[in-house]
Amino acid sequence: MTTYRKIEVTPIAGALGAEIGGGDLSALPDDATFDEIRQAFHEYLVIFFRNQTMTPEQHRDFGRRFGELDIHPFAAGLDDFPEVMPVIKEAGDNTSNFGGTWHTDVTFYEKPALGSILYALDVPKSGGDTMFANMYMAYDALSDGMKLMLDGMTAMHDASRSYGATNSRAAERLKKNSGSMKIRTGIDSTRQVEHPVIRTHPATGRKGLFVNANFTHNFKGWTEAESEPLLQYLYDHAVRPEFTCRFRWQPGSVAFWDNRCTQHFALNDYAGHRREMHRVTVIGERPV
Ligand code: SIN
Repeated sequence: MTTYRKIEVTPIAGALGAEIGGGDLSALPDDATFDEIRQAFHEYLVIFFRNQTMTPEQHRDFGRRFGELDIHPFAAGLDDFPEVMPVIKEAGDNTSNFGGTWHTDVTFYEKPALGSILYALDVPKSGGDTMFANMYMAYDALSDGMKLMLDGMTAMHDASRSYGATNSRAAERLKKNSGSMKIRTGIDSTRQVEHPVIRTHPATGRKGLFVNANFTHNFKGWTEAESEPLLQYLYDHAVRPEFTCRFRWQPGSVAFWDNRCTQHFALNDYAGHRREMHRVTVIGERPV
């Protein structure tokens, strides 16, 4: 276990997740503090900060310390800060929510996200928590036989299930549910990219399971029907309770998760209440 001198690190669960004390993200941390934040990020996979106050510009600038930022192709960012994407569910939206299924962000890119930084502006008094799952643990818990098979496989990912123009059910649901978010659907959502099913984290060297129900379409060389049962098994396996943690938001909370070794799930249990977050997404590297 690492010794931290610049920040306080308090794990929130056995599997992953730690609260970080002692960092003010609006004033960009000095290099030594930043190095410890990065270390905690690698050690705990998702890190949380409390009582932050960040303008969209400061949020963007904090994200830029970790790499180039994404502009989401289907969900609009703020007019003046397109890299900052509002994630909003209004009190009157009694429908589904953004991120309300287990997933890893934007794996439909050739270079999917390194991480996402979510900042809470307005949260319900109770409900609206986010859960995270540790994909290293999911991989480690597979049998040797399953590991051997999956290690040699790749899978095709696309955005059609979430943003498909030709998938009328998804398009209809999005139109009804996007509330204050500006979400578009499009034929470009069907563009496929290929990723290893088991990826090796570029910083930690650890192997993790890298398929998710939002964007993984099929195993390469397998039909969708052939892929479905094994994918479903892996989706269920990946989020076993002992691989997860759950974060309770307050206004000013920030979560920074590593999309290369986690999945997350935004609970939709706050009907009649408003929730507003801002997300910045750091672009990662090609999975290997
Ligand atoms: C997301 O999937 O980016 C949204 C997570 C959340 O709103 O908690």
